[in-house]
Amino acid sequence: MKREISRKFCVAPMMGYTTPYARKLYRILSNNSFLFSEMIATKSLIYSKSRENIIDNDFNNPVALQVGGSEVDDLTKASQIAVDYNYDEINLNVGCPSKAVQKGSFGACLMKDKLLVRNCIEALQNDKIEATLKCRLGLGKELNYEFFEEFIDEISKTGIKIIYVHARNAILNGISPQANRTIPPLSYDYVKKIKNKFPKITFILNGGINNLERAESLLKEFDGVMVGRLIKNNPFILKDVDRKIFKEKGRLVDETIIYNYFEYIKPKLNFESIFRLLSPLLHIFFSVPHSKIYKSKINEYMKDQKINLIEDLLIKFVSEKNLT
Ligand SMILES: Cc1cc2nc3c(=O)[nH]c(=O)nc-3n(C[C@H](O)[C@H](O)[C@H](O)COP(=O)(O)O)c2cc1C
Repeated sequence: MKREISRKFCVAPMMGYTTPYARKLYRILSNNSFLFSEMIATKSLIYSKSRENIIDNDFNNPVALQVGGSEVDDLTKASQIAVDYNYDEINLNVGCPSKAVQKGSFGACLMKDKLLVRNCIEALQNDKIEATLKCRLGLGKELNYEFFEEFIDEISKTGIKIIYVHARNAILNGISPQANRTIPPLSYDYVKKIKNKFPKITFILNGGINNLERAESLLKEFDGVMVGRLIKNNPFILKDVDRKIFKEKGRLVDETIIYNYFEYIKPKLNFESIFRLLSPLLHIFFSVPHSKIYKSKINEYMKDQKINLIEDLLIKFVSEKNLT
């Protein structure tokens, strides 16, 4: 049986960032946000010896496992793994423009072949969890609504219920993945139009939502929003999501957040790099001014694996900069 879940506010999949550790921190900060793993290639998912570390869920539901791939047998296996690890959803990445991903025949280049994407979604579908898609509006420099509608029309034949749209094209040649998140123009109108055309599908809007007030106002027009870099740069934004978006009592947020997170990561130091464990918290230093002294201290402590000193320093930083 599939669980009824709100996807009103989703934290976008981000490779190198939305690790199991980041998701734990996000869950400490918000009960209701819908979370994503980073994209994992189906082959790694199936054959990696360190699968446990890559996709550990640890009851951070509601959460989706995002995969990249286009071989139907692998996708079916990946979907079963998502069920086994207690994910609520398996999501196919058809939005990543990187060269490496194109070489592996997955990501945004799949938008060229809507029939293949349809087969891929069918391979992911089962009666336990939702099989969903994350795509762009199209490919290349020119926006083309007809292309987008024809693509969604083909995918709709799978009976898919949820599609996340990064509301800009992907440019497959000549610009980096990073530039692909800023240069192609956003078109929220296309998502509005497609939602009216396919009312049975829930479309979640993604791209360029850079504060919670914007997310709140977009939710008047869209079924749900997905936010990436805003949360990557400062995960503490999530502490307001339950109150502002879900109209629930917000979390009582103080240094216990840091304390709880460190309780979770400390036992993992034996088998995971300290950088990966601390990474979800380290990004706040980039977005908060005058944090250079803290940064160099943390780097020094990280080299020596002085986890307790790092914890104290972070608690001090967070209260000094009023982040909670
Ligand atoms: C560092 C980074 C890594 C990303 N990795 C993925 C990924 O693994 N899968 C995916 O579908 N999108 C990935 N994206 C794209 C985001 O999910 C999202 O679509 C994009 O950042 C636009 O949303 P935003 O403007 O809220 O950041 C990544 C984005 C960033 C910044």
